[in-house]
Parts: sequence; C-alpha cells; structure tokens
Amino acid sequence: MTGLDQYVGFLGGAYLWVKAAHLTFVIFWIAGLFLLPRFFVYHHATAPGSAEDRAWIEREGRARSIILGPAMLIVWVLGLALALNIGAFAQGWFHAKLALVVLLTGYQGWLSAYGRKLAKGARPLENRTLRIMNEIPGIATAVIVVLVIVKPF
Ligand code: HEM
Repeated sequence: MTGLDQYVGFLGGAYLWVKAAHLTFVIFWIAGLFLLPRFFVYHHATAPGSAEDRAWIEREGRARSIILGPAMLIVWVLGLALALNIGAFAQGWFHAKLALVVLLTGYQGWLSAYGRKLAKGARPLENRTLRIMNEIPGIATAVIVVLVIVKPF
C-alpha cells in the first residue's frame, strides 16, 4: 500500500482520524484488561460479605461497565471500519491480528465470569495464577503491534 491508498476507501480523509480514535480506545481497553485482575488479587484478600468485599464488587462492576465494555465495543467498530477501508480481510497479518483480538475478547469474557464468581463469595484461583493470566494482554498487545506496524506477512 502506498501512502495515498489510505485515502481511497469509504472513510476518505477521515481514515487517520478513525485510526487515532482506534488507538485511543485500544489504550483504554488494554488498561482495563490490566486493571481488573489486579483488583481481583486485592479482592481475594477480603472476607465474603464484608464491607471491603462489597466495595471491590462495586469497583469491578464499574471498571467493566465504564471502561472495559464500551472500550472493547468501540475498538471493534473502529477497527473493522479501518479493515474494510484498506481491504485488510485479504491480508495475512490481519488474520493473525484478528485471532489475537478474538483471544483478548474471550479473555475479557473470562474476567467477567470470574468477577461474578468472586461476587458470590468464591475464591477459585491462586493469586499467582491470576498474575500469570495477567501476562496474556501484555503479550497479545506486543504481538498485535508488530503485526499492524511491521505487517510481516
Ligand atoms: C477489535 C478488533 C480490531 C480490529 C478489527 C483492528 C483493525 C485495525 C486496522 C485495519 C488497522 C489499520 C492498519 C493500517 O492502517 O495499516 C488498525 C490499526 C492499529 N491497531 Fe487495530 N484492530 C483491532 C484491535 C486492536 C487491538 C486490540 C490493538 C492493540 C492491542 C490494536 C492495535 C493497533 C495499532 C497499534 C494500529 C496502528 C497501526 C498503524 O500505525 O498503521 N488494534 N487496526
């Protein structure tokens, strides 16, 4: 793709603005994905039914409804618009990126389910396991950035 090709899709001159907004919401989304398991580690230390337990349930709910849910949705909508604009569905790097983004979306679903278990008083995982799970968004982000910028295939 040459420098000018990005202006020929249906987004026209808005392409770079959409990409800028895409990246802003990517940052919000990934920040939320880092935040929630941290909250879970602190939440683990509280006794079910205690005031702290209820405070963490509320904080986790707010992080999901104010940051994670909206940011994920906006990243998807803007990302798909960018992809349609540049014909990315025919390109190898985009298939790999899409697979990783589906993984991140699934990870968020898992986090929400885990939060619901904590809210019911269960503490199913060790803190160590949660910290290891927390590597997923970091590694996925590093690989996605290489895929979209270097486009190795
Ligand atoms: C949710 C689904 C997503 C879709 C469909 C999508 C799609 C796209 C597309 C088509 C581009 C334009 C590439 C270009 O102009 O060459 C782009 C840019 C970018 N995306 Fe995404 N994206 C998604 C999520 C993400 C996520 C989760 C991350 C990071 C963790 C990310 C990071 C980036 C970056 C860094 C760029 C800028 C690349 C450049 O400067 O050209 N995207 N995205």
